[in-house]
Amino acid sequence: MTEREPVTVRIEGDLAWVRIDNPPVNATSAAVRAGLERAVDAVAAAGARAAILSCAGKTFVAGGDISEFGKPPILPHLPDVVTKIEQSDVPFIAAMHGNVLGGGFEIAMACAWRIARAGTKFGLPEVNIGLVPGAGGSQRLPRLIGVEASVEVACQAKMLDAQTLHDLGGLDMVTDGDPELAAAEFAKTLPDRPAPVSARPVAPVASDFFDTTRAALRKKSKGQQSPLHNLDAIAWATQMPFDAGQPKERALHLALRDGAESRALRHVFFAERTVARPGAIDGIAPRDVARIAVVGGGLMGAGIAMAALSGGLSVTLVERDADAAAAAHDRVAGLLEGAVSRGKMRADDHAAALARFTATADYADAAGVDLAVEAVFEDLAVKQEVFRQLAAVVNGTAILATNTSYLDPREIFAGIANPGRCLGLHFFSPAHVMKLLEIVKTPDTEAAVLATAFALAKRLRKVAVLSGICDGFIGNRMLSAYRREADYLLADGALPHEVDAAMRAFGMPMGPYELQDLTGLQIAWANRKRQAATRDPAERYVTIADQLCEMDRLGQRSGRGWYRYEAGDRTPRHDAEVDALIERYSADNRISRRAFTAEEIADRLVAVLVNEGARIVEEGIAERHADVDMVQIHGYGFPRWRGGPMHYATEIGTDRVARTMRDVAEQSPGSWTISDLLHGA
Ligand code: NAI
Repeated sequence: MTEREPVTVRIEGDLAWVRIDNPPVNATSAAVRAGLERAVDAVAAAGARAAILSCAGKTFVAGGDISEFGKPPILPHLPDVVTKIEQSDVPFIAAMHGNVLGGGFEIAMACAWRIARAGTKFGLPEVNIGLVPGAGGSQRLPRLIGVEASVEVACQAKMLDAQTLHDLGGLDMVTDGDPELAAAEFAKTLPDRPAPVSARPVAPVASDFFDTTRAALRKKSKGQQSPLHNLDAIAWATQMPFDAGQPKERALHLALRDGAESRALRHVFFAERTVARPGAIDGIAPRDVARIAVVGGGLMGAGIAMAALSGGLSVTLVERDADAAAAAHDRVAGLLEGAVSRGKMRADDHAAALARFTATADYADAAGVDLAVEAVFEDLAVKQEVFRQLAAVVNGTAILATNTSYLDPREIFAGIANPGRCLGLHFFSPAHVMKLLEIVKTPDTEAAVLATAFALAKRLRKVAVLSGICDGFIGNRMLSAYRREADYLLADGALPHEVDAAMRAFGMPMGPYELQDLTGLQIAWANRKRQAATRDPAERYVTIADQLCEMDRLGQRSGRGWYRYEAGDRTPRHDAEVDALIERYSADNRISRRAFTAEEIADRLVAVLVNEGARIVEEGIAERHADVDMVQIHGYGFPRWRGGPMHYATEIGTDRVARTMRDVAEQSPGSWTISDLLHGA
């Protein structure tokens, strides 16, 4: 079989057609780059008046080949190809559709004219994988559409639609029809060839623009460097000619490709794709799901209903009684309206979603659903009764799911006929916002049921991770290890604001104590009481959090928790009373308190995450380390640019993590089981 040419040239009269055909997204792989170089020569040799550059398939060039990024660059390099197109004697017209991203946008900016179908999306998403553009994107874009808009595109990965780009001066024409036909029409009476984008001046910005933008970006990016690197690159466009700025951009691009941040972000990029295909469902077809029931319309149930409605499903929500059903209806309607007012949902989609939604107190209304998910009180007897009632009305193959946080699904489903259809669907709060979904399999769950759950997750735009059964599943089990070590640190010398500051500095959106105040201390308190009977008596148990709860310091909602709050203000304020309580605890337990540096605190808290994550994989609860990383990033705010705890451990060295974990274990003897991963390191 002969390999298909990824770039072809066809001469028709005095017009040349250059077409890229490199499925699935026409990425700028080495073969495409070489093909484009040959194409520029071919159209010149044919003496064409103009060349129309377009792509086969669903999209124009939508980026680079990310798998090439971990390796040394292969000739020809994209910046040279782009320059060759810009300097070609035969002017190029880009005729675009779909997504014009990264290298695709850089190629488009080298063309003399740009035409796109309405709705085409443009962007420079390199920042998302820790990079700056590598083929002049940061130098040409400010010359094409100005500095302010370029900063949004390059530093924040903002996508521009065709009309917006046109209004900014970046497109010559937006067409509702076929962009290739529009380009051919345009070519009939070509205007004078404009100056190449690289030779255009950059419109000046306010003198403090870069300083204020840098401060804002730094605050928002929480330790991620690539937004700031992109800002630097755009600043070069304002300070020096293209010929000086472009090599600087390229050098930075190549240096960043070899850096830890880009490695981490690329790991996440690939992990997000592989996590959706666990070995357990390999080759298994999902069943169709069109209509679901949600039982319990409180905080979680309303969010789950909202996510399902946004995903195009029909939802029957079952509550305890008519009043509770009406309240749940209002809650979901409120979420839908919120989505419209924030511009996340169109008015006609909103009307259609409402029409697909009913709230009821009668289980009979749930007959005929394909799947039912329960989000009632966290109480075994209540949940068992819910499934007994559901099983009586739905058909024998309808999938039954529990959203329990800590209860054992095997007990929840005990006695339900056809247990192969039962599983856990553990959403995170708020369920219509948080990306993570833990799909919990029981020993009985059939592969087709799991495959259906993964397909459903995709429809709800969730990152789904397969979990086995253990206390807290993957995420909450790791969270409880993290909180336990944080409490040991408090007992031994740290204070809550020091722990929180250390974890923020590491890149977490919040420290563990601010987060507890935000979500409330009572659920974890109830959980600790539940675990008390089975807790290993050798394990160190710090009672500081329990004491706070007993004092009714339950977090923001009670006006005080680990911090104190002023009325109507969510800012955590340092509370000397809490410091005193902690210091008294240490004294009562004859602990001589010592200082911990921010680095020690972060090292220890991350080490226990790595240790627990490794154990979870070693026990077969999660399939891969990457799954653990996805749980932490999408459910708990672990910084994406650090790649998740397991990737981070390989980056800094498992031996270093192992040393820290040994210190952690010595600090609290009898309290930690060291994973094989760290034991051997
Ligand atoms: P919630 O108290 O806000 O809502 C529970 C709802 O269930 C209430 O509206 C109640 O009227 C309804 N309900 C109770 N018994 C019922 C029955 N027999 N039939 C129909 N409806 C009934 O509780 P929340 O926070 O929504 O939690 C629900 C479940 O989700 C729990 O199992 C919890 O562990 C789990 N979960 C909670 C998370 C959270 O952050 N709150 C996160 C992940 C899971």
